[in-house]
Amino acid sequence: MNPQDRQKIAQVAQSEPQHLAHSLPAEFYQAGLFTALDQTHVLHRSWQLAAHVSQLTQVGDYVVHQLGDLPIIVVNTGQGLKAFHNVCRHRAGPLAFENGHGKTLMCKYHGWNYHLTGELKSAPEMHTTPGFEVSDYQLPEVKLQSWQGMVFVALHDDVPELDAVVDGISQRIEPIDLNAMRFHRRDEFILDCNWKVYIENFLEGYHLPHVHPGLNQLLDYKSYQTELSKWYSYQFSPLDAGSGFYGEGQAHYYFIYPNTMLNILPNRLQTNQVLPLKHNQTKVIFDYYYPEFEDREALIEQDRVFSDEVQDEDIMICEAVQKGLDSGSYDKGRLCMKRETGLYHYQELIRAAYRRYTDQS
Ligand code: FES
Ligand SMILES: [Fe+2]
Repeated sequence: MNPQDRQKIAQVAQSEPQHLAHSLPAEFYQAGLFTALDQTHVLHRSWQLAAHVSQLTQVGDYVVHQLGDLPIIVVNTGQGLKAFHNVCRHRAGPLAFENGHGKTLMCKYHGWNYHLTGELKSAPEMHTTPGFEVSDYQLPEVKLQSWQGMVFVALHDDVPELDAVVDGISQRIEPIDLNAMRFHRRDEFILDCNWKVYIENFLEGYHLPHVHPGLNQLLDYKSYQTELSKWYSYQFSPLDAGSGFYGEGQAHYYFIYPNTMLNILPNRLQTNQVLPLKHNQTKVIFDYYYPEFEDREALIEQDRVFSDEVQDEDIMICEAVQKGLDSGSYDKGRLCMKRETGLYHYQELIRAAYRRYTDQS
């Protein structure tokens, strides 16, 4: 890196005390240095949600996922779950285009066939090729750990243990057990904003009265609180009794650094993954899970309608914010001490990740 870039990153990534905190400067959300750093020093060096065990119950079940530029495949090998590069060792073909099931993993291009555990088993018509041995080939493996039924993967080894990242969540959501949830459906949204804009919007309830009048009725805004942990923040609010269809209990909103959200309500888990496509374009994946219980169809339908309404409102405001960031009119602003602590916590983790880059280079 050239010394000017290094100095610039070091300067704008300086930590701020909470009572004096500003938002990240507009440049953090634009093309250039920070877009690349988000990939290499934030997303590649963290746990990424890839699947749920309810999608991988049988030996041979597999789920495909994308880790930045790298396609991966998570497999029930019969000897536990493993994650591999979904990139064939012959000429980089895919082992699977979509989630599925098989006795082996056969490349879709020329049929090289791999054991579920990743070793090459056979390769058609390669026996006359001098020096070729199937035993020389193995799909590269990606680090994988599971928690509460959710399967996370990480590209780099220098990530904290997953149990340390989510420490305290299981106890807090009791008696809810996310292992009992079953995958129901996936919705994907493409937004014209930087991925951090979408995450920051999730991290504060400050906008509820203005952007989400419907959601604001369901939750008790005055009781809405945020707690911070090392690697996650937690927003919660009692559900307003009588006004909701989710039943009594609490709404638990977890943000796990750097891009996973768990939205837990009685009898429902919704996970969000926020994936940058370009500096001003983001894919947001919503996966819906419900436990098995009678007459759940009504809840599922109401949940879909209500979630879509909230998501439409968030998309509209996030895309408008990106326009504001790109306008040249704005650099950074003061954060609300009372309502934007989760956002502050996230921005400090991002700043720390950028500083690690300047420290190493
Ligand atoms: S690329 Fe996989 S078999 Fe050719
Ligand atoms: Fe929102």
